[in-house]
Amino acid sequence: MTVLDLVVRAGTGIAAGIREITLAAADGRPLPPHPPGSHLVVECGPVRNAYSLTNAGFDTYSIAVLRRSGGSAYLHGLRPGDRLAASPPRCAFAPVATARKHLLIAGGIGITPMVAHARDAARWGRDVELLYVHRPDAGAFADELSDLLGPRLHRVTDRDAFGAALTGALRDQPLGTHLYVCGPGPLLDRVLTEAATAGWPPSRLHLERFVAAELDPGREFVARLARSARDVVVPPGTSLLDALRAAGIDVPNLCRQGICGECRVPVLAGTPLHRDEYLTDDERTGAVMCCVSRSETATLELDL
Ligand code: FES
Repeated sequence: MTVLDLVVRAGTGIAAGIREITLAAADGRPLPPHPPGSHLVVECGPVRNAYSLTNAGFDTYSIAVLRRSGGSAYLHGLRPGDRLAASPPRCAFAPVATARKHLLIAGGIGITPMVAHARDAARWGRDVELLYVHRPDAGAFADELSDLLGPRLHRVTDRDAFGAALTGALRDQPLGTHLYVCGPGPLLDRVLTEAATAGWPPSRLHLERFVAAELDPGREFVARLARSARDVVVPPGTSLLDALRAAGIDVPNLCRQGICGECRVPVLAGTPLHRDEYLTDDERTGAVMCCVSRSETATLELDL
């Protein structure tokens, strides 16, 4: 697995509790390109977190980090010159090329992939509209977004105003509009529920969770490894990935949050219980992201 060796170029506070960090390749070479909506999985001391890239640069990557605890606190403590390891950019949240219009909905720090979308849309002349809900003191990138989008930016700072703006935004869109939403789980759930009620087909809804959902421990099942004719028991509370690794099967992995796409395993028989944010509906019949997903059936046969 490729790992990028990065160096911190700058760290700047851009809103309450939010720090924008600029990174470059430690060896000074150009960085891998990426489309808007991409993220890096960053090694933050003992943990790995996924962060959306806000810029499109080859010379530098930018991420914006909300200080919570653990990995984000570690990143807030970095200084220019400090080194950081990260995965190459991954993207499961790019703008759809055939969309007639792009409706972006961001909650709080969920604005980060939308900044990349908005910059790219403004650059290439795509029709875009952004609904951004945030705390009154935490409107990161607000001035730039206002310059980029003008009246197509709708900022709200309370729940009622967001509800009204969301209802209007979901109703008043041309056919062929795609919706992209990023933010905390309850906001995502609300947007998806209201969009379904308003008649939006699932194929036009795209989401990016910036915090992995709390997962229940699940039921025990057996992973049948077709190539080696072995059965591996996966107890409740143990991930399929950890059970495979304990059995000596080395599956690549990175985020362990169902986001990066690294731990994908082909499924030959049985029904996966998908809990990731990476696979598309079409991909879900033949694969499972083993860091978070489990099995609906007592046995899940894998091409391992
Ligand atoms: S390790 Fe990233 S999706 Fe499983």
